[in-house]
Amino acid sequence: MTKKIAVFASGSGSNAENIYEFFKDNSTVEVTLILTNNANAGVLERASRLNIPSLVFNRTDFYNSTKIVDILESNAIDLVVLAGFLWLIPENLISAFPDKIINIHPALLPKYGGKGMYGDNVHKAVVANGEKESGITIHLVNEHYDEGKILFQAKCDVIHNDTYEDVASKIHALEYEHFPKVIEEVLNSL
Ligand code: GRF
Repeated sequence: MTKKIAVFASGSGSNAENIYEFFKDNSTVEVTLILTNNANAGVLERASRLNIPSLVFNRTDFYNSTKIVDILESNAIDLVVLAGFLWLIPENLISAFPDKIINIHPALLPKYGGKGMYGDNVHKAVVANGEKESGITIHLVNEHYDEGKILFQAKCDVIHNDTYEDVASKIHALEYEHFPKVIEEVLNSL
């Protein structure tokens, strides 16, 4: 029975593509759908290049209708993966997919989490605060930003002359290495 993943992204979608590549020769797992809140997101170009069905939605679709939940359910989605998705997840989606929504955050939660802490903002804060390490956190999603149960963390060093771009590239390397494997473990546990 093929396990089906829906990936939500708001930006470039490099993690979404990496996840697709990891599973593309695996007949038991597929990236079924890519969804975004941003009509200009780079993830849409990746989806069309990879022939993955994609969907752009707005706030009304997401917060004032059952449209997105209906689409996920009609596609028999097993796991919702947030990969650089910037909006808070609405209650109806969380209750439709209990413990089946996971997110990757580019820092070692609970530090550098919460509203406004995304992308380069995180790495700039890490560098500004003179942190000696950073990393990634993969967690279950609940109704609060970045507060669900932590499933996995991996660390990288932050050396004294690292720029926030240096930290970002170390973090992306960790994301590409670990996120697909954690997704596979979660799917196996479903
Ligand atoms: C990643 O750094 C991820 O940790 C964060 O948003 C970024 C998404 O990058 N949530 P991309 O769109 O996958 O390239």
